[in-house]
Amino acid sequence: MCGIIAAATEKSVGKLLVQGLYKMEYRGYDSAGVALHQIDDIAHLRSLGKVKKLESKMVKEKPKGKIGIAHTRWATHGKPSEENAHPHVSNNRVFIVHNGIIENYVALKEQLLKKGYKFNSQTDSELIAHQLDFFLNQGSEMLEAISLLKEKLEGAYAVAAIDLKNESHFYLMRNKSPLLLGQSDSGMFAASDPLALADLTNEFVFLEDGDVAEVSAKEYKILDKNQKRAIRKITTIDVSSEAMGKNGYRHFMEKEIYEQPTAILNTLDGRIGGEDVLENIFGEGSNKLLSKVERIQIVAAGTSLHAGRVAANWFSAIANLPTQIDYASEYRYKNPYVDKNTLLLTISQSGETADTLGALRYAKERDYLGSLTICNVPTSSLARESDFVLLTNAGPEIGVASTKAFTTQLTALMLLTLSLAKARKLNPRLRGRVVGALRALPEKITESLELKPKIIKIAKEIAKKDNALFLGRGIFYPIAQEGSLKLKEISYIHAEAYPAGELKHGPLALIDKNMPVIALAPENELAEKLISNLEEVKARGGKLFVVGNAAGNMKLKAKNLINLPECDFLLTPILYTVPLQILSYEVALLRGTDIDQPRNLAKSVTVE
Ligand code: F6R
Repeated sequence: MCGIIAAATEKSVGKLLVQGLYKMEYRGYDSAGVALHQIDDIAHLRSLGKVKKLESKMVKEKPKGKIGIAHTRWATHGKPSEENAHPHVSNNRVFIVHNGIIENYVALKEQLLKKGYKFNSQTDSELIAHQLDFFLNQGSEMLEAISLLKEKLEGAYAVAAIDLKNESHFYLMRNKSPLLLGQSDSGMFAASDPLALADLTNEFVFLEDGDVAEVSAKEYKILDKNQKRAIRKITTIDVSSEAMGKNGYRHFMEKEIYEQPTAILNTLDGRIGGEDVLENIFGEGSNKLLSKVERIQIVAAGTSLHAGRVAANWFSAIANLPTQIDYASEYRYKNPYVDKNTLLLTISQSGETADTLGALRYAKERDYLGSLTICNVPTSSLARESDFVLLTNAGPEIGVASTKAFTTQLTALMLLTLSLAKARKLNPRLRGRVVGALRALPEKITESLELKPKIIKIAKEIAKKDNALFLGRGIFYPIAQEGSLKLKEISYIHAEAYPAGELKHGPLALIDKNMPVIALAPENELAEKLISNLEEVKARGGKLFVVGNAAGNMKLKAKNLINLPECDFLLTPILYTVPLQILSYEVALLRGTDIDQPRNLAKSVTVE
């Protein structure tokens, strides 16, 4: 989503603000802007497009200032344009940057219009600047103004603001949208993502909902939701910008695909021992909780939801547990029935997805046994607010299309499945077998990465098409869904996924020579049925591409077949994901799209 950064130091902060924006650009990239306090005036520069454009403007205009705020945007209210880019300004005095959504903006805007304020953008954010200006004109100091503003706003927001008449401070306000302070000897900083402050500091203070703060180069003061002075804990996080480089790869997505063997090793590290999963890997007391679980409710979005769908099969097959699974954006609005001893399981790479976080907060008010999250960002709201956490430890994922986050989520979900089975005293031999297979998995993934030359040949054919169908059966249906999501989001080819048996109930009508069909065909008990489904496609002239070794008898040309290394059947969904990721990447490369920052998308969707 959008990214916010603010800084106060003894030197000019323009450069470090832009560097911070670059590090957050993966969160939103349709426009960017900066406001720098130059004592007599505030330099205000904005540009449509990526941070590079803003940087060129800054190189030309050379603004200087020891206090500043900056923003990279992913449009919600109002199209991407220079007027809608942040910072927004009121009366050339108050400048603000905002992440989130102000839900009561129509009513507040109306009040401000009546007071004579003119709006120059279509955003819900601009009113924040005008409302602050109004309070300042009424005689408030900025800290008081921002506290009064907080009482008026409904929705999710992280805001940073500066005032022309105050050259030594910036101001912050947070509700349901991430915002943290960074402190160092050379100055004070704030950002919506600790990565933005990599190399500036490793000491962070997380603001809480309802907090406002006044920050200078030397100190900060936080007031909590009751307007009381708050002392918040300092958290040390080592964020190095090295982890944020492409390390010789063409794109972050490519790098992240190739990091998967190491990322999976990191997910497993310290969590398995001998022939079983270790105790309490989700936190002290988690085993006791797991032994009481009778049902699981999964809530997640996008790729993380696909991981949940695979896991639901595992929970049932290995731990004898039923699972209900919902889109995070739907869950709260269906008045969910909560059965006795149900565990709420959220899955999220970022840990900041507004719908998933909203679901957790909603569930905490309901009668769940407890909440557990599988998450990649240790400092995220989801990780901090859940009762128990298993971090995937995949390292920062910058490419908007999720890759290593997905395969490590699946690995973590298998650890959860084994822990549940263990807590329920089920399947000890099977657990031992799967633990062995998990140890071998990184090596299998490395082997599957070597299939790239073959996949490139297939990519050349798919890149010419406008549509694609992905087919899988059973536990491979969510993997087919994930393959289709990857292809559409980075290559803009329309793609859909079906359980192969559903084909003849409608989608078969789409099959002709222009419709590539990518089928996942592992050697399993469904293989024969799947082959029959694929024969139906062939008979209608569809162009088949098969991933897996069950299709050897289909007389497909060798170039249309991708055979994967042998692997324990229960882990094959993880392995089969890799060629699909490479396929999407190679197709997108051929089509010349913006792979790491596909159009209209953003990493970490912090609005509902
Ligand atoms: C797709 C993708 C998204 C995310 C979704 C949830 O490649 O990355 O579908 O999976 O926005 O995000 P998290 O996992 O951060 O909650």
